Amino acid sequence: MDAIYRITDLTKSYPLPGGGLLKKNRKVFRAVDKVSLEINSGDTFGIVGESGSGKTTLARLLLRLIEPTDGNVYYKGRDVFRLNRSELKKTRKEIQMIFQDPYSSLDPRKSIFNIIAEPLKVHKTGSLSDIHTRIVETLELVDLPTSDDFLSKTPGEISGGQRQRIGIARALVLKPEFVVADEPVSMLDASIKAGIIELMTQLKKKINLTYVFITHELALAYHFCNRIAVMYLGEVVETGNIDDVIQSPAHPYTRLLLDSIPPTEPDPDWLDKRFGKSDFSRNAEGCKFFVRCPNPKDSCLHFRPSLSEIKRGHMVACQLG
Ligand SMILES: Nc1ncnc2c1ncn2[C@@H]1O[C@H](COP(=O)(O)OP(=O)(O)OP(=O)(O)O)[C@@H](O)[C@H]1O
Ligand SMILES: [Mg+2]
Repeated sequence: MDAIYRITDLTKSYPLPGGGLLKKNRKVFRAVDKVSLEINSGDTFGIVGESGSGKTTLARLLLRLIEPTDGNVYYKGRDVFRLNRSELKKTRKEIQMIFQDPYSSLDPRKSIFNIIAEPLKVHKTGSLSDIHTRIVETLELVDLPTSDDFLSKTPGEISGGQRQRIGIARALVLKPEFVVADEPVSMLDASIKAGIIELMTQLKKKINLTYVFITHELALAYHFCNRIAVMYLGEVVETGNIDDVIQSPAHPYTRLLLDSIPPTEPDPDWLDKRFGKSDFSRNAEGCKFFVRCPNPKDSCLHFRPSLSEIKRGHMVACQLG
């Protein structure tokens, strides 16, 4: 398998409030923290984690919508942050994003035609009649009507499921190779959700797409993805083939997600009794999952594990696993 994306030590930090004017006093928060991953051509690569774990920030870095603090992202062997303007424009045609919220991601004042035409106009793809032909083809691909009446409607005049299909059509109209779908079904009703997942499955077969599929639902990733990365506080804590990760989860966070038990902050008395009066919030060098881990070791307080391979392609960042 060829890696279409190779991500190495990718980090995105944001300043924390406070710290004054002196640079050395300012504290930063790593929304994405030294992430290294490979996404292969043809993958449906799931990124799973609870809210705030850094999934969207990682996606935005992959598409160069934001600049990293550190690390590299190689797309087809080229560092996306070192592409010149024309290379970037060409690459932007190949990589597209489907957004979570079809309500806010589509301009409510524009017609369906103009929404889908916009990327074609930005990339100057042919005459108005070519644009019309391409839009009709793309609407057929996502099982939507192609009549002039439908094309002149605005997002407010169609259903939620149809709106997300428009979001998908807009992402596909430039015939991309790589699509990042950021929680594309989390705002939809169960019945509509199933239809969108089925559509994305069919599209992958028809037009040879590679997907990154962001979700907080492990069950959905299991159904749809072939590989997965589990994120916790900006770090990838486990990654591998979907069957390996779901059937033999090696990180305690993955296990908790699988049990559908939201891991909560444990009683500090329990931690104090076991580890003495430590300031766990200043556990700067230790495992980030320490205070929520059901069964931490003393050394987890001081040692931050990096990903290591436990089986071919199955990696975990935990010294307990
Ligand atoms: N521009 C920004 N400035 C400061 N902090 C940010 C910025 N963007 C994201 N963050 C922070 O980075 C962390 C990760 O955010 P991100 O949106 O990537 O999480 P997520 O996993 O996509 O969450 P969700 O499931 O809620 O969409 C959050 O704590 C968020 O508040
Ligand atoms: Mg997000």
